[in-house]
Amino acid sequence: MAGPGARRGPGRQRPPIPPGLRLLFSAEQIAARLDELAAAASAKMAAAEKPLAVCVLKGAFMFCADLVRRIPVGMDVAFVRAASYGSGTVSSGRVRVSFEPPAPEVRGSAVLLIEDIVDTGRTIAEVRRRLVSRGASIACTVALLRRKGGAAGAAADAAGFEIGAEFVVGYGLDLDGKYRNLPYLAAVEGEAR
Ligand code: IMP
Ligand code: MG
Repeated sequence: MAGPGARRGPGRQRPPIPPGLRLLFSAEQIAARLDELAAAASAKMAAAEKPLAVCVLKGAFMFCADLVRRIPVGMDVAFVRAASYGSGTVSSGRVRVSFEPPAPEVRGSAVLLIEDIVDTGRTIAEVRRRLVSRGASIACTVALLRRKGGAAGAAADAAGFEIGAEFVVGYGLDLDGKYRNLPYLAAVEGEAR
């Protein structure tokens, strides 16, 4: 029987969702939502002088790859590594940026900032600050997920899905390095933020 993750094509069955996880958004739901997000981002980036997508690692890698290929505006892609979580599901409150593109790469560019989830908004604020200090302007910020009751104000121009207190994994997001390569988004049972 085809589960919530059934892949198209004959004879291809998806493995069951691991125990302890609950499906939130299927691969098909994500793909449909990305079409909408890409259309909105394309409109903003079309006018950009030197368009550059900046992917916040690691969590946004899958989202970024799927989003940029839907945007018919020629652009380069750069990566920044930011982490506010140690192990587990509670934010340390401090954002550590351990890797970012060199200034010449970002100077003068109009950035499409791609983040996995905006929770308190600290990560996205710190990444923005660093890009702007290197001479970029932020044209558009897109998050895959936005936590309700999280960041005050408009930390992201657009978000794929709104979530509540659940800790979400899959489609790039991890819990202690697990579940990152799941093609869907799932909640970890018993983990609330
Ligand atoms: P913020 O700085 O509080 O907005 O937190 C954003 C960062 O926390 C994201 O880039 C994620 O890496 C991480 N994070 C927050 N909530 C979750 C979650 O539910 N699952 C996985 N990572 C999360
Ligand atoms: Mg993480």
